[in-house]
Amino acid sequence: MTSKLLCAAFILAALTLSITFSLQPDQQKVLLVSFDGFRWDYLYRVPTPHFHYVMKYGVHVKQVTNIFITKTYPNHYTLVTGLFAENHGIVANDMFDPILNKSFSLDTMNIYDSEFWEEATPIWITNQKAGHTSGAAMWPGTDVKIHESFPTHYMLYNESVSFEERVAKIIEWFTSKEPINLGLLYWEDPDDMGHHLGPDSPLMGPVISDIDNKLGYLIQMLKKANLWNTLNLIITSDHGMTQCSEERVIELDQYLDKEHYLLIDQSPVAAILPKEGKFDEVYEALAHAHPNMTVYKKEEIPERWHYKYNTRVQPIIAVADEGWYILQNKSEGLMCEYVTIISSHSASLCAKVDVMDNKALYLLVE
Ligand SMILES: *[C@@H]1O[C@H](CO)[C@@H](O)[C@H](O)[C@H]1NC(C)=O
Ligand SMILES: *[C@@H]1O[C@H](CO)[C@@H](O)[C@H](O)[C@H]1NC(C)=O
Ligand SMILES: *[C@@H]1O[C@H](CO)[C@@H](O)[C@H](O)[C@H]1NC(C)=O
Ligand SMILES: *[C@@H]1O[C@H](CO)[C@@H](O)[C@H](O)[C@H]1NC(C)=O
Repeated sequence: MTSKLLCAAFILAALTLSITFSLQPDQQKVLLVSFDGFRWDYLYRVPTPHFHYVMKYGVHVKQVTNIFITKTYPNHYTLVTGLFAENHGIVANDMFDPILNKSFSLDTMNIYDSEFWEEATPIWITNQKAGHTSGAAMWPGTDVKIHESFPTHYMLYNESVSFEERVAKIIEWFTSKEPINLGLLYWEDPDDMGHHLGPDSPLMGPVISDIDNKLGYLIQMLKKANLWNTLNLIITSDHGMTQCSEERVIELDQYLDKEHYLLIDQSPVAAILPKEGKFDEVYEALAHAHPNMTVYKKEEIPERWHYKYNTRVQPIIAVADEGWYILQNKSEGLMCEYVTIISSHSASLCAKVDVMDNKALYLLVE
């Protein structure tokens, strides 16, 4: 989740699979699983028998459209709130809120300030307010106090904790004397390795096989615990990934004096906070700097991205074309990532659907 080495990036897409059985309303149980950065076509790169098993007996949506911007935290919060980033307030993995005068940073795991999360109410809280209980195994935000609450059961985020341990907790909570009806399970790969290797690398094959084995393990454990036939399982991801290259880097230092602004978030959507009195200078310097970077004043951000109306969106954003990477200075080392930006697809979930919004997934969980 946090590791960003070589060149990898996000594109729209990810997958969703779901198995639904007809249950009495009072028996409804949901387990929502996210494999970070699982691009939709990974399913077909190598044999993925466990995914195909679920697809065969469930419902498969070929592509899930992420919100703008396609980062881990914004999209995971969308999945559990049904809201765009401008509405739920987690507008990036790295943020600055000028009113709170506080920063949020995934890179330093400085994400525990409740105020960043409280523009929305995540589903575990809604579930608990309705008298039910929830359990979360490292889903982003689930170990943060939000509106004075935590999930009924949760694990403190620790990326070293194995998938098997996370599954064990989920099973324990679903089978306890007071069972949860909502489980949330998160795993950092294939995102971590995708950043490391690049999504198009042949070395991603074994990584995808490993995820498929992890899904197999989850299925096996659910069957063993007699949960397989009594819960709704949704498997999805937050974003896809695209390959980038050292040939496609946009270095802000070439155009702009770094004394004139703060770079709050980097790529593929650079969030730029000009220093006092420097807005025009910064904007003019960047506006036509590079053909593969589109620069927007905040008020010019296209409405369709639903990314404008939040104080945490900085006065200027610069958006790289797909496959391009924005950084301040190449000496920082290239950490190439990319997210596809525009989504025009939406649909509700039924067997024929190929593409759906991740916002709509919330309705399923709900
Ligand atoms: C914002 O916080 C910083 C310290 O993090 C402080 O130096 C600065 O004065 C604060 N600004 C305002 C306007 O309160
Ligand atoms: C994180 O998990 C690993 C593996 O279980 C453990 O060794 C380590 O102590 C944990 N770290 C923290 C901060 O709890
Ligand atoms: C990048 O940073 C290095 C070291 O600070 C500096 O020497 C170089 O001029 C910078 N690159 C540009 C294009 O400004
Ligand atoms: C990058 O910019 C060039 C020149 O405008 C354009 O031809 C090319 O399509 C752009 N690349 C992408 C990936 O959009």
